[in-house]
Amino acid sequence: MSFKIEEVQTKPFDGQKPGTSGLRKRVKIFQQEHYTENFIQSILDSIQVKDSTLVIGGDGRFFSPETVQTILKIGSANGVGKFIVGKDSILSTPAASNIIRKYKATGGILLTASHNPGGPAPESITNPIYEKTKAIKSYKVLEAPPLDLSKIGEYSYGPSKVSIIDSVADYTILLKSIFDFPLIKKFLDEHRPDFQVLFDGLNGVTGPYARALFVESFGLPESSIQNCVPLPDFGGGHPDPNLTYAHTLVEAVEEKGIQFGAASDGDGDRNMIYGKGAFVTPSDSVAIIAHWADTIPYFKEGGVKGLARSMPTSKAIDLVAQKKGLEYFEVPTGWKFFGNLMDAGRLSICGEESFGTGSDHIREKDGLWAVIAWLNIIAAVNKDSPNKLIGINDLLNEFYSLYGRSFFSRYDYEEVSSEGAHKLVDHLNEALKSGSLNKTVHTATSSSTTFEVSGLYDFEYKDPIDHSLSKNQGQVITFSDGSRVVFRLSGTGSQGATVRMYVERYVAADAGASALSKPAAEGLQSLIEVALKISKLKEFLGREEPTVITVSLPIC
Ligand code: G6P
Ligand code: ZN
Repeated sequence: MSFKIEEVQTKPFDGQKPGTSGLRKRVKIFQQEHYTENFIQSILDSIQVKDSTLVIGGDGRFFSPETVQTILKIGSANGVGKFIVGKDSILSTPAASNIIRKYKATGGILLTASHNPGGPAPESITNPIYEKTKAIKSYKVLEAPPLDLSKIGEYSYGPSKVSIIDSVADYTILLKSIFDFPLIKKFLDEHRPDFQVLFDGLNGVTGPYARALFVESFGLPESSIQNCVPLPDFGGGHPDPNLTYAHTLVEAVEEKGIQFGAASDGDGDRNMIYGKGAFVTPSDSVAIIAHWADTIPYFKEGGVKGLARSMPTSKAIDLVAQKKGLEYFEVPTGWKFFGNLMDAGRLSICGEESFGTGSDHIREKDGLWAVIAWLNIIAAVNKDSPNKLIGINDLLNEFYSLYGRSFFSRYDYEEVSSEGAHKLVDHLNEALKSGSLNKTVHTATSSSTTFEVSGLYDFEYKDPIDHSLSKNQGQVITFSDGSRVVFRLSGTGSQGATVRMYVERYVAADAGASALSKPAAEGLQSLIEVALKISKLKEFLGREEPTVITVSLPIC
């Protein structure tokens, strides 16, 4: 059979350079004539496209269905053998990573506010794509009507095959093979109504997944999930699981006194755990999952190979690794850095302060995996505690009493001027080169606490597997009491620059219960004050207050 393929003339667009994970631009930019087409053709020109299998999905955001049709047309015209597409073009990032691995696909394209699946494409893939975008002259399109993506089944599309699959089924099977579902269900059944669960999908992609897990598998009521219908504009909200943007969850949990709250981001790879009066920082979350890994069948049976965190993430997980005698790694920000370690069999559990938590079951972070991991741990711990219900707060307190507590805070300054951001970086680089900050002592006016600078360095990472070197991954200031502050430019902003300041202060376990809660949080405040002063951040960025604050809260 012959198919009509048209070759459309085009010109390169500037700046089609994938950032931390994927090409991030506003939808308006993608809607320009030829813009998306150029990028898709460039991706296809950079891979072995003939007879390849591509997985296509996304978080259902605005402009996704149109873009899936564009990918089908251009992909088919270029010789893609088979497309595996989530029904209605919906696939969470972790679900797509699972499908790519399970069906041994060549790769995938995800339409989301973040990320490309699989593992995230490394620079060895994204750089050649960028080079192609700079030289593109034409792209190929199959002339065919759009395919109905709402019906599961096997189809032909031009010379290609298209398989439209249930977005949720494979993912649920995966989680059931990792966690102890019967144990979780039994615990939830037995502790109703005093242990309530609330999951907030923030109108991103996880809604259908959450319903399959919480309502269908665990038998919880409909009221245990909210904002679980994926909406093209995320219901007008910003689907980021943090204290600012996931306020719908925080408010509901506090108002109704819910023991276990959780939220996931737009494409389902990040998570936040938040019980009544208990915000779990992502740094603590991954450390606690690692600590209790033995309660999870996947790790009990397969063992835990190693642990890892991104550099700005607090060092809580390092302490777990030391105690358990496991290898551990500090990598730059970006999930792609974990992939090599996992493939080499040296890493099982890892996380980032940016609300990403996961394991080597796939090659992306996995929001619902983290949420179910917490439920599995709570169910297991309560099995041995028939008389007292152990909740999130108890697990946090117990963890701190064993390992000490890393108080952590992140200040985000979004959409600041690039000029100001670079001045801040230059200022710190000068201090690094001249050594002018070394041994200087700084006093926080609010508390008269003093901090002495013990070092300043620019973080770089040599991948132990492929030996590639990643430089300029964030500037770190250390203090003689063991505290540290990190400054980093975000790699994911779509407008202007975003500066992140990460602050960490460790209090050892023997400091006692009261020091492990409120007073040390005040100590963190003093460190923040000093960090702002040393960096002259407000001066360079022209901002009094950050856009988003993530902070360890005092626990009750
Ligand atoms: C994406 C990546 C994460 C990374 C985050 C950092 O979400 O998938 O692995 O932690 O970006 O974002 P930033 O804006 O700090 O560069
Ligand atoms: Zn995401």
